[in-house]
Amino acid sequence: LKSKGINEKVKWDGYPHVLKSQQFDKKWVEDVLFPLANKIEKLFGRKKLRKLLKGKTMASVFASESTRTRASHEIGFTHLGGKVAFSSQNANLSGAMGKGESFKDTLKVFDSYNLDLIVARNDSLKETPIIDIAKGLNTPIINAGDGAGKDKQHPTQALLDLYTIYKHLGKIKGLNIAMIGDLKNGRTVRSLCYLLAKWNINHIYFVAPKALKIGKDILAYLKSKDIKFSEHRNLKTIASKIDVFYQTRTQTNLGSRKDTRLNNLEDITIIDKEILKLGKKTSIIMHPLPCLDEIVRSEVDNDPRAIYINNSNNLPSQLKCGLIIRIALMLLIIAPHKSVKLLG
Ligand code: NCD
Repeated sequence: LKSKGINEKVKWDGYPHVLKSQQFDKKWVEDVLFPLANKIEKLFGRKKLRKLLKGKTMASVFASESTRTRASHEIGFTHLGGKVAFSSQNANLSGAMGKGESFKDTLKVFDSYNLDLIVARNDSLKETPIIDIAKGLNTPIINAGDGAGKDKQHPTQALLDLYTIYKHLGKIKGLNIAMIGDLKNGRTVRSLCYLLAKWNINHIYFVAPKALKIGKDILAYLKSKDIKFSEHRNLKTIASKIDVFYQTRTQTNLGSRKDTRLNNLEDITIIDKEILKLGKKTSIIMHPLPCLDEIVRSEVDNDPRAIYINNSNNLPSQLKCGLIIRIALMLLIIAPHKSVKLLG
C-alpha cells in the first residue's frame, strides 16, 4: 500500500488541484471516485471516517455567495476529522479584499500558512481566474466555482451531478440529458458538459430562453467529441425523450438579467406538473440549487423523480451526493494512500 505505484492510480491529471472537468477521465471516475464515494456513504457518521484527516487543516475562501458548496466542503472536512482553520463568506467585501486587495493576493496569503487544502470561489470578472491563480500555489486548491473569464467552471458540482445520475439511473451511457435554463452564464452546466463528453451519452438537449443560450465554445467541444446535441426554447416539445432534466436558475450574480426567462411566450423552460406528465416515469429531475421559480415546487417536490433535495427510492438526493463526493475528493487530495486502503 505504501508503494508509489498504487497511490498513482488514484490521482488525476493536474493532481492535487481540482480546477476543471477536463482533468478527470472516465476510468478514474468509475474505478476510483465512485467506488470511494460508495464506501464513504456506507461509513458516513462512523468513527472510522472521523480519523482519516486528523490533524489536517483547510481554509475556505469564498469571494461570493454560497451555502451548499462552502458548507459541504467544510462540514465534509470535519466528518473526516480535519479542522477548518479559516472560513470566509463574501471575502470580497470583508477583510483585505474589501480594502481592494486582489483575490490572487488573498489566496497567496493562505498558501503561505501551511494548510493542507484551500477551497476557493470567486464570481468577479475583474479577478484572475482560479485556474490561473492555482499555477502559483503550493497548497492543493479546489475550484469551488469560478465565475471569472470565459472558462467558467464548477468541477466538484459536475462530479457530484454525474455521481447522482449514476446512483439513480445506474448508468451514464446512452442517456438523453436536458440542460435547462441559464445556459449562458451557468457554470454547473458548462462543467457537466465537459465531463459528460467523456461518456457515450446519447444526446444533450439544450433548452434555454433566447437570451441565455449555451456558449458556442461548449457546442464546439461537444462536436469535437462526437456528442449529439440540439438547441430548443420549449421544454414541452422534448420532455418525453428525457432521462435527466437538469434545471438551473437565472444567474443574476454572474450577469444574467432576471426577466429573460419570462419575457417571450416561446421560452418555456419551467418544470411543472405538465412537464411531469409528459416526462418518462424513469426520468430524474436535478437542480444544482438554489432553486427559485424555475421549478414549481408545490407540484414537483413530492414526485419521486425530483431528487434535488429529497432522497428517493432509498437513494441519496443530489444534495447528499454533493457532500459524499466532496468528502471523497478531499480524502483523495490529502490522503491518497488512505483512499487506496478504503477502496480495498
Ligand atoms: C451553483 C453555482 O454557484 O454555480 N450553485 C452551487 O454551487 N450549487 C448554481 C447556482 O448558483 O445557480
